[in-house]
Amino acid sequence: MSVFQRVASGFRLAAYLGRNPLTMLGAALTTSSALTLIGFWLFDIASGGTVHPYVGVIFFLILPGIFLIGLLMIPVGALWRRLRLARSGQLPAKYPPVDFSVPAIREVVGWIAGLTVANVLILSVASYRGVEYMDSAKFCGATCHTVMQPEFTAYQNSPHQRVDCVQCHIGPGASWFVHSKFSGLRQVYAVTFHTYDRPIPTPVKQLRPSRDTCEQCHWPQSFAGNKLMVKRKFSDDEKNSELTTVLLLKIGGHTFDGAVGIHGRHLDTGSPIEYIATDGKRQTIAQVSYTDGGGKRLVFDSSDVKASAAQLAAGEHRTMDCLDCHNRPAHSFQTPERALDEAMTQGSISAELPFIKKQALELIKTKYADRDAAAQQIAAKLDAFYRGGYPDLYRDKRALVDSSIAQVQAVYLRNVFPAMNVGWGTYPNNLGHTDFPGCFRCHDGSHATADGRSIPNDCDTCHSMLAMEEANSKILTDLGLK
Ligand code: HEC
Ligand code: HEC
Ligand code: HEC
Ligand code: HEC
Ligand code: HEC
Repeated sequence: MSVFQRVASGFRLAAYLGRNPLTMLGAALTTSSALTLIGFWLFDIASGGTVHPYVGVIFFLILPGIFLIGLLMIPVGALWRRLRLARSGQLPAKYPPVDFSVPAIREVVGWIAGLTVANVLILSVASYRGVEYMDSAKFCGATCHTVMQPEFTAYQNSPHQRVDCVQCHIGPGASWFVHSKFSGLRQVYAVTFHTYDRPIPTPVKQLRPSRDTCEQCHWPQSFAGNKLMVKRKFSDDEKNSELTTVLLLKIGGHTFDGAVGIHGRHLDTGSPIEYIATDGKRQTIAQVSYTDGGGKRLVFDSSDVKASAAQLAAGEHRTMDCLDCHNRPAHSFQTPERALDEAMTQGSISAELPFIKKQALELIKTKYADRDAAAQQIAAKLDAFYRGGYPDLYRDKRALVDSSIAQVQAVYLRNVFPAMNVGWGTYPNNLGHTDFPGCFRCHDGSHATADGRSIPNDCDTCHSMLAMEEANSKILTDLGLK
């Protein structure tokens, strides 16, 4: 048989078997979804490409799905018809001829070839756009609105608000991509049937080592020197008196002297630090160990935790990386005091308003039925406080009062999500030691080797204190900051 004859007989077969409802329906679905998709893409290109997450689900996931199902229905229908005919003995030995000398038939063949090319193109664009869409922060953060609201809100206020969720949560590589899509299916199930945990548990155990995520953008070799930190605190007196703490943090890194300071010591690839946590949350660290450059093994056991050999074996064994200190790089929730101090330092809540720190602190720490009730009552109470207690100020500086009230509401709404049981302090932050155990999970003076060497906890191991809660800090004047 010549090629032409073979194509002709194949076509005859297809034309004959294609006459069934399933194939027809498939063709209709494919054609209509293809037209809608192309129309949407043109609109998307013309309008600059921002769509609502639910619209995205329809156009990037559901319609391409219908397109694909329609496409599959075409051969399935034909096979089904063939099977049925064969079973009832009606399958002709020779299919009715299709005469290629008839122009109409040639035209149909032309159409089929053209449509196949178009289908392949549509499928490639649809799958590319679908993946791109599923990788967007908007899809991850806003589709399951309530579930992701705490993390998405914190993310939008973090230094990583321009970094897609997938950069940290999935990272590069095809196998991780597939892995994440399967875990995504489980999550869709959990959201649909409301079986997810509230709050979502942390730490995320299946996060990849930071080498594959953080270090794609931040490389450890780049750390060096010290970082000056100025922290302002406002008291609960009428004047909201300001106290300043100034620290010089020994960030360190890799220098001519080797690995030094905070980043250098823990990220020293020559002698990585390992630890065992016994509480499932990496907050209770029973044992820390490393092998030093000379090959000597140092094991620091906690005299506070006192874990048995069985508890140690059952605990979580981990090698330290960025995530053990920076566990909230994109979802850092604040403590109530610190949240207000930061807003007052920026000036978004005015320190001119008498007792604002004390009043706001009480109000944001109160429990409310839900976020709407909270926002409404915070505003009502603060407004009443200034209207009743400070009528002159309320009259003369109304705009300042109103904008500060709005910012107190914002502080609450950034941090408290009753629907997900997320409130003040739900998610500990390991960077530091004043609000949560953080560095002191190991540097508490009670982790020591058998021969009495302990993980250092002198106050100047990690920072020089230049001022500690001082009212009129001289150091600020010396540094030219005041
Ligand atoms: C800069 C890296 C980074 C980015 C970007 C990022 N995350 Fe995370 N995320 C983390 C880390 C690290 C944790 C683990 C926190 C821990 O162990 O305490 C985490 C934890 C979570 C958790 C678990 C609950 C919790 O709060 O610990 C959720 C849910 C989450 N992220 C969702 C998102 C979403 C949605 C986005 C995008 C809108 C996103 N993340 C973007 C690093 C990131
Ligand atoms: C896709 C690139 C990218 C990835 C991945 C990434 N970051 Fe970042 N990160 C940035 C950028 C860009 C900034 C600077 C933001 C700025 O200057 O405001 C930043 C800032 C930071 C800062 C400084 C924040 C501050 O207060 O100034 C820390 C700490 C940090 N990242 C830690 C991490 C950790 C930990 C991870 C891994 C969980 C990570 N980053 C993953 C791009 C990334
Ligand atoms: C032992 C704890 C620890 C580890 C491990 C650690 N960091 Fe840090 N990092 C800190 C502390 C403490 C600071 C200073 C506090 C701050 O900036 O809020 C800091 C600051 C930073 C900054 C801001 C630097 C600046 O100049 O402002 C970046 C970026 C950063 N870390 C990224 C990383 C990355 C990426 C890793 C992993 C390769 C990492 N860190 C590992 C504790 C750690
Ligand atoms: C999992 C345990 C662990 C945690 C958590 C931890 N460290 Fe360490 N750190 C160590 C160990 C172990 C050493 C090495 C001690 C030694 O060799 O004596 C060390 C050493 C250091 C050093 C070097 C000290 C020196 O004199 O050379 C600094 C600085 C430091 N850590 C800062 C921090 C900071 C800041 C944090 C919190 C952001 C932190 N560490 C969190 C285990 C930890
Ligand atoms: C293992 C390292 C380490 C040791 C030891 C350590 N600190 Fe710190 N400290 C930190 C880090 C890191 C921060 C900054 C946290 C941040 O990014 O906000 C900090 C911040 C502080 C602050 C500022 C708190 C704030 O935000 O208002 C004070 C005060 C402080 N330390 C006091 C001490 C005192 C007192 C000691 C001795 C008992 C001590 N620290 C020992 C790592 C350490």
